[in-house]
Amino acid sequence: MTRPVAVVGTGTIGASWAALFLARGHDVRAHDPAPGAEARLRDAVAATWPALTRLGLAPGAGRSRLSFHDDLADAVRDVVLVQESGPEDADLKAALLRAIDAHAPADAVIASSSSGLLPSTLQAMCEHHPERVLVGHPFHPAALVPLVEVVPGAASPDHAVTAAVAFYVDLGKRPIVVRREVPGHVANRLQAALWREAYSLVERGVATVADIDTAISNGPGLRWALLGPLVGQHLSGGPGGMAHTLRHLGPPAQAWMDDLGAPRLTDELADLLVSGVDDELAGIDQQAMAAARDELLVDLLTRKRATPALP
Ligand SMILES: NC(=O)c1ccc[n+]([C@@H]2O[C@H](COP(=O)([O-])OP(=O)(O)OC[C@H]3O[C@@H](n4cnc5c(N)ncnc54)[C@H](O)[C@@H]3O)[C@@H](O)[C@H]2O)c1
Repeated sequence: MTRPVAVVGTGTIGASWAALFLARGHDVRAHDPAPGAEARLRDAVAATWPALTRLGLAPGAGRSRLSFHDDLADAVRDVVLVQESGPEDADLKAALLRAIDAHAPADAVIASSSSGLLPSTLQAMCEHHPERVLVGHPFHPAALVPLVEVVPGAASPDHAVTAAVAFYVDLGKRPIVVRREVPGHVANRLQAALWREAYSLVERGVATVADIDTAISNGPGLRWALLGPLVGQHLSGGPGGMAHTLRHLGPPAQAWMDDLGAPRLTDELADLLVSGVDDELAGIDQQAMAAARDELLVDLLTRKRATPALP
C-alpha cells in the first residue's frame, strides 16, 4: 500500500495541495498550529472538491482520507512526501524544515512550496538529510493549475528530483525542472517582468489598471493559456516561423525592451494600483468572479487535456 502524503502548513496553498492529494487517491496527514486550522482546512477542501470531481477523482479518493495532527512528528512519520507550505519567512521555514527533517523517513521527499527561497538555503536548514529537500512551487489555485516548478538545490541527487517529478506527474501536474537556482524561480520572474511594465505604464499615465487587465485578458493572455509566449511568437511569423518573426519584428521589439520602465514600488505607486483595481471591480461580485474563474479554468483544463495537438 502506498504511504501517505503530509501537508505541513494548511493556509491558502497547503489546503489546495491537500485537496489535490486527496482527489488523486492519497491518504493525507495535515499539520498547522493555528487555532481553528483543521476546520478551515476541511472547509477549504470541501469548497475545492466539486471542481476536482469535475476533473475526475482517482478510484478510492475521498475527503475522509484526511487526518489532522496537532503534533508535526505524527503528521510526517511514515509519509512518502512532505509538502511544506508554511509562511514565507526564512526563520519560520528554518524551524519548520528542521522539525520535518528530524521526523520524516529518510527516503521521503521534502518539497517546499516556497515562492522565492532558494532550495540550497532550505537544504542548509536541515541537519539530517538535506539532500531530499527541494522546492516544489505551485501556482494558485494549486489544486487546479498544473504547473509545478521543481527546483533542486546544491545537495540534490538526481534520484530526488526524479522522485519529485514522478510524484507530481502522477498527480496530473505539469512539472518543469528549473536548472539553476534564482530568486523567484521561473514563472514568478516572468510574472514580475510583466508586473514591472504594468506598474510603470500606470505610473506614467499610459494606461489605467483596468485597461492593462483588459489588454492581457482579452489579448495575448487568451493565447498564452494555450501556447507559451515563444511558440506564440513562432506562429506569428507565418511560414517563416520564429526566425522570420525575429528578423522582421525583433529590431522594433528591441527598441520597446530598451524603453521598458523600472518602477519602484513606493507607497504612492501602491495607492495608485490599489485604487485602480478598486475602480475596475466597482459593482462586481468578487466571490462570483473568483468562482467563475475556477469554473472556466476547469473547462479549459478539460479541453486542453483532450487536445493532443497542443505541446
Ligand atoms: N499564495 C500563493 O499564491 C502562493 C503560491 C505559490 C506558493 N506559495 C508559497 O506557499 C507557502 C504558503 O503560502 P500561503 O499563501 O498558503 O500562506 P498562508 O499564510 O495562507 O498559510 C501559511 C500557513 O502556515 C501556518 N503555519 C504557521 N506556522 C506554522 C508552523 N510552525 N508549522 C506549520 N504551519 C504553520 C499558518 O497557520 C498558515 O495556515 C509560502 O511559502 C508561499 O511562498 C504561495
